[in-house]
Amino acid sequence: MEDPLQDKQVVLGVCGGIAAYKAAALVRLLVAAGAKVRVIMTEAAGAFVGPMTFQALSGNPVWTHMFDGPENGIFRHIEWAEQADAVVIVPATANVIGKIAQGIADDPLTTFILGVKAPVLVCPSMNVRMYENAVVQTNINRLRDVGMHIVGPVSGSLACGREGLGRLADLETIAEALRCALVSRDMDGECVLVTAGPTQEAFDPVRFVTNASSGKMGFALARTARRRGARVVLVSGPTALDDPDGVKTVRVRTAKEMFDAVMKEAVRATVIVKAAAVSDWRPAEVSPQKLKKDTVGRQCFFEKTDDILGALGKNNKGPILVGFAAETENLKENARIKAAEKNLDLVVANLVGKTGSGFGSDTNQAIFLFRDGRTEHLPLMEKIALANLVWDRVLEIKKCMKSDAGC
Ligand code: CTP
Repeated sequence: MEDPLQDKQVVLGVCGGIAAYKAAALVRLLVAAGAKVRVIMTEAAGAFVGPMTFQALSGNPVWTHMFDGPENGIFRHIEWAEQADAVVIVPATANVIGKIAQGIADDPLTTFILGVKAPVLVCPSMNVRMYENAVVQTNINRLRDVGMHIVGPVSGSLACGREGLGRLADLETIAEALRCALVSRDMDGECVLVTAGPTQEAFDPVRFVTNASSGKMGFALARTARRRGARVVLVSGPTALDDPDGVKTVRVRTAKEMFDAVMKEAVRATVIVKAAAVSDWRPAEVSPQKLKKDTVGRQCFFEKTDDILGALGKNNKGPILVGFAAETENLKENARIKAAEKNLDLVVANLVGKTGSGFGSDTNQAIFLFRDGRTEHLPLMEKIALANLVWDRVLEIKKCMKSDAGC
């Protein structure tokens, strides 16, 4: 249930633009995420993609003509508007944007929109000259002013052969924007700094010391905070994961680079969560050339890296500090020591090297240890669910700090 799209009623409006074919792929994506999708097509959309495609992909009848019968009869526009958790228009053409901006209701989509109270995402796609047209821009601003979310367009090569702003936003970006619109924005105003992934410490130009961290936990933290309305900076070591939408992602390689990036970004942060598995040592010497395998008697000496969280914790009177404790034994005792040494508000302690928990997996089993000595034992759960719980507890800690009574 951790995907905000799960079980949500999403109405997709499809207009007559080349990118209408992408709307079909969006239905697949939304259905795969657990959403219930209803599709409304304009007449022009039918010239690009057939309603059968949307019917097959959504598993629901598609609404194409104002007086299509029955499915809720003549009040379908009201029923669908009342039942919608979110609405997304893909692609939104200049014509439909203009009609909605003026309150015109002369087809199923524009009539339905007038009755919607749920969030509406409008995803424009058209030729760059049309998009830049002053009337189109005025209409888009009007939609923004009445609270609709405008997603895209992006720059690139357009179907008409021109280059410029007018391509439909990526489908993943649209789906993520829908998730943001569906989640309560209880982290509005927070500036969150998250670290993720491993670091790599080179000992010659082609070899390095690292660990098995995948970055999934840190990325889940960044993504969920962003969905809940926070401004998020993610400082990540090398991972195979894509930058999360709407998150400022700073890629680093070494513990030193992570230290510098974190210190720079920490100035504005209200909450810092260090999920990265930072290397504790780096080779004391880095060979400028690749070391040959027959180098006789070669020894590698290591020196300690700086403890980033430890440095943040020293005399911290600013942001809430959350650390992770990756342990293979004595989980609680070791985590407690770390919490005290690094002056942390919350420690997320987890056993690594256990199936389904820790490095690489999509799930994690953790214990929260709070500054006041409380502990909370959690069951095995998706990393995205654990990330949301971390934010819940951070908000509770902030609330307690504000109230004189404490908790
Ligand atoms: N951490 C850090 N900088 C380091 C090492 C760790 O900021 N150089 C942070 C991690 O991001 C994590 C916390 O400190 O939030 C604990 O990391 P962990 O690897 O569990 O413990 P260490 O402090 O490195 O101690 P040890 O390896 O001895 O368990």
